[in-house]
Amino acid sequence: MSIIIRGGTVVTADMTFAADVYCDEGKIVAIGDNLDVPENAECIDATGQYIIPGGIDPHTHMQLPFMGTVASDDFYTGTAAGLAGGTTTIIDFVIPAPGQSLIEAFHQWQDWASKSAADYSFHVAITWWDDSVYEDMGTLVNEYGVNSFKHFMAYKNAIMADDETLVKSFRRSMDLGAIPTVHAENGELVFQLQQEMLSQGITGPEGHPLSRPPAVEGEAANRAIRIAEVMNVPIYVVHVSCKESLEAITRARNEGQLVYGEVLAGHLLVDDSVYRHPNSEFAAAHVMSPPFRSKDHQAALWKGLQSGNLQTTATDHCCFCADQKAAGKDDFTKIPNGTAGVEDRLAVLWDAGVNTGRLTINEFVAATSTNAAKIFNLYPRKGSVSVGADADLVVWDPKGTRTISAKTHHQNIDFNIFEGRTVTGIPSHTISRGKLVWANGVLNAVRGAGQYVERPPFNPMFDALTKHAEVNAPTAVNSD
Ligand code: URP
Ligand code: ZN
Ligand code: ZN
Ligand code: ZN
Repeated sequence: MSIIIRGGTVVTADMTFAADVYCDEGKIVAIGDNLDVPENAECIDATGQYIIPGGIDPHTHMQLPFMGTVASDDFYTGTAAGLAGGTTTIIDFVIPAPGQSLIEAFHQWQDWASKSAADYSFHVAITWWDDSVYEDMGTLVNEYGVNSFKHFMAYKNAIMADDETLVKSFRRSMDLGAIPTVHAENGELVFQLQQEMLSQGITGPEGHPLSRPPAVEGEAANRAIRIAEVMNVPIYVVHVSCKESLEAITRARNEGQLVYGEVLAGHLLVDDSVYRHPNSEFAAAHVMSPPFRSKDHQAALWKGLQSGNLQTTATDHCCFCADQKAAGKDDFTKIPNGTAGVEDRLAVLWDAGVNTGRLTINEFVAATSTNAAKIFNLYPRKGSVSVGADADLVVWDPKGTRTISAKTHHQNIDFNIFEGRTVTGIPSHTISRGKLVWANGVLNAVRGAGQYVERPPFNPMFDALTKHAEVNAPTAVNSD
């Protein structure tokens, strides 16, 4: 099946122009005026609308086994919901249990993800260290298309990576041409503060943000960034939620370091008042780490996005329903951490970003798609509207509206952190690998249609780092 999109305005990270876009066999094959295409091509009228690259969500956790339960959106339901919202690629996380072989875990996730309706790729978490981890990192990069490794600096007694692991893994990542990423929260401090809250009788969800203040995040972000500086490796900080970690990123970037920051739609739009809601089920539904923050942090995050110190937006989509959250009814430390959003990210960012004048339409495309493709070496196959790229496209209706609700969303969760928000700017059509999967409110996601996307190592940023290492190589003193 081939598709011709006519009458729209193509918007990329750096250009805006009127053109038709023709897709065939899963690829974009022509872009131009009044394209001559086969008569049987399906025609989409995009008059008055934008044609943008499909969203890339670089941070999701479909069907993650976590904190004694399993995330309720699996790879099919979660990617299908993403398609309804204009996200055509996710980068999820393989998270080996401490002591588990990385390769074994990778195969486990591959198996789970084979039902995906949209394309997917994997970061792999380094949750422990020995020689086999060192070896397996090489195999993952050279044979399995992985070019990023994740380090949880929180979740003590579970998947937390200590400084020794960070140092060894960062050095190995540099040698392999892979980018280390971090969940930056000081796990020791979180653990200590959790015990203090519980001993003071604070057992409800309000204890969650109290045990994870911004300083806990700022310390870890700064530590990871400085370790990366010494190891001469790029670093990507996931879910930056507060001024303190944004400042650590900004400072390092101003010093010329290759540091990247991701912000979640939730952190931009939901504030910490939710944790003091009298309905504790409502409060628990918002428990995710790092927690939602006060409005001054939110304002700083928007400025981080506007200034380019934060480059990507994600959701950390990790769904737990009320019955799952209830595991922490009497002890907030047992509430499974995670919130949803893969379906809503583009619309809420357009509404709160473009419609308010915070972001240009090109910056919106960069922040929702192109920048993630560049950092994780998927560009221009993903994140662009160009001939030869995958036909992952969204026809974006800037005047269309939707009121977000758990009652109507496609995510497999009974709650929506954006509940009741009416957004202007929605996807009218989503094309995934050349197939029309979402059209004017009708979802045609196909189980198993998504493909695994390999990401090659040695993104161009590594050339710069290698040069930097050569120029600054240590020298010995030839003393007499
Ligand atoms: O609370 C969260 N974010 N849950 C998912 C795991 C993680 O830390 O990213
Ligand atoms: Zn995290
Ligand atoms: Zn996460
Ligand atoms: Zn539905």
